[in-house]
Amino acid sequence: MKFPKIIFALTAFSVFVACNSDDNNDISNNDYSDIYNLPSTPYNYSNPNFPETFTPYVLGFDNTPTDNPITDDGVTLGRVLFYDKNMSANNTKACASCHLQEFGFSDNKPKSEGFEGGHTFRNSIGFANTGFYKAENMFWDHRAATLEEQVLMPIQDDVEMGMTLEGLVEKIGALDYYNPLFENAFGSKTVTSDKISKALSQFVRSIYSFNTKYDEGIEITNDIFVDFPNFTAQENLGKDIFNGKLTPGAIGTCITCHMPNATPLHFEQPVPDNANQVIFSGAEPDNIGLDEDINVEDNGVGAFLGIESLYGHFKTPSLRNLELTAPYMHDGRFATLEEVVEHYSTGVKPHPYLSAHMKDGDGGPRHLNLTDEESAALVAFLKTLTDYELIYDEKFSDPFVD
Ligand code: HEC
Ligand code: HEC
Repeated sequence: MKFPKIIFALTAFSVFVACNSDDNNDISNNDYSDIYNLPSTPYNYSNPNFPETFTPYVLGFDNTPTDNPITDDGVTLGRVLFYDKNMSANNTKACASCHLQEFGFSDNKPKSEGFEGGHTFRNSIGFANTGFYKAENMFWDHRAATLEEQVLMPIQDDVEMGMTLEGLVEKIGALDYYNPLFENAFGSKTVTSDKISKALSQFVRSIYSFNTKYDEGIEITNDIFVDFPNFTAQENLGKDIFNGKLTPGAIGTCITCHMPNATPLHFEQPVPDNANQVIFSGAEPDNIGLDEDINVEDNGVGAFLGIESLYGHFKTPSLRNLELTAPYMHDGRFATLEEVVEHYSTGVKPHPYLSAHMKDGDGGPRHLNLTDEESAALVAFLKTLTDYELIYDEKFSDPFVD
C-alpha cells in the first residue's frame, strides 16, 4: 500500500504548486527556458539580512521610494532587462556591457564604448549599496535626481544605447519572453517605461555589499579606530591613515568625505552605537584638486547646475570593490590605486574651488606626504573593501542561456 500513498502525496503536492502558481508564473519551467535560466522560486533579494553594522541610522539612508519597494519578482525582471542587448537600438549593448559584475558593475575602460562604437563622456560607475547614497543624486555630476530617473537615461543616450522610450516599450512589448516576468512583477504583462524604470532600479538597488574583509573586522570590533584582529599590520596602518588617526583632527583625510556622517566619530571617545561605519560613499559632491584650471572639458556638478563655485565638483563615489573598478575618477585618469593615493599624497592642485577639506592651514592644497610604506598600506586597506561573494553571486549574473 505504499505506492498509492506516494501518488497521493505527489498529487497533493502538484495541487499545492498549481494553486500557488495561480498568481505567479513558474519562470524556470515555461516556454522560455531556452532563452533564460531562472529559478522556479525567485532568489531572495527583498530580505538581504544586513549585519548589525548596518545600524538603524545607516538603514535610514535608504533612498528607496515608497512606490517602488524591492520585490523578488521585480528584481528578477530588472535582472533580465539589465542583461538584455535588445535594450539598445542595434541589439549590441546591454546595461551589463558597461556595468560588469566581475568589475564591481563598472568596466575596465577610462570611457565606455556605446552601441555604435562611440565613447561615453565619463568613466562608468560601479554599483554597491547604491540604495544608500544619501544624496540620492546619480551620475558623476548628480544630474539625475533619483535612481528611477537615472536608469532610463542611458537607454535614450545617443552614444550609449540610442533608443526612444516609445521604441523601447514597443520592442520589449513584442518579446513574449517578458510576459511572465512583467506579470509576476507588476500583475500584468503590459510593458510601460515606468515599469522598466522601476524594475531596473530595483535590480541596481538590490546590489548590496557587506561581505568584505573590512566588514568582518568592523563586525568584530564595532569601532573603525581600533585595530581589526583579522587585518594584517599593514592593513591596520592603512586603516589609520584612512580614518585620520595619524593626522590630528582627522580633517581632510579620507573618512571626512568617503564616510558621510562619520564625523560624530572621535577616536578619543567611544563610537556611538548607531554610527555609520559601513557606507563608503559621500553625501556631497566635492572638488579634490584634480585640475588647476576651470577651463576644462568637464566641470561636473558646477557645469550641470550653472554654478561656477561648484566647478570641478563631482560625486563622491563608493569605495567598495575599488580593486575591481579601475581606472579611477570621473574621467578614468588614474589607472591604479597607487596613482590615486599618489594624488592625495602629493598631487592635489590649487583649483580656485578646491574643497575646504583639501586645504591646509594656509589655504593651499593639502598634501598628505605619505611615505612609500604608508602609501602601500593605504592601498592594502582599500583592497579590504572587495566583496568577492557579491562578484560571484549567481543571483546578479547574466540569466541568458547563450
Ligand atoms: C555604453 C556604456 C553604458 C551603458 C550601456 C550603460 N551605462 Fe550606466 N553608466 C555609464 C557611464 C559612463 C556612467 C557615468 C556617466 C556619468 O556620470 O556621466 C554610468 C552611470 C550609471 C549609473 C550611476 C551610478 C551612480 O552611482 O551615480 C547607474 C545607476 C547606471 N549607469 C545604470 C545603468 C543602467 C540601468 C543601464 C541600462 C539601462 C546602463 N547604466 C547602461 C555607462 C553605461
Ligand atoms: C574632499 C573630499 C574627499 C577627500 C578628503 C577624499 N576623497 Fe576620494 N574622492 C572624492 C571625490 C569627490 C571623488 C571623485 C572625484 C572625481 O572623479 O572628480 C573621489 C574619488 C576617489 C577615488 C576614485 C573612486 C572611483 O571609483 O573612481 C578613490 C579611490 C578615492 N577617492 C580614495 C580616497 C582616499 C584613499 C582618500 C584619503 C587619502 C580620499 N579619497 C580623500 C572626495 C574626497
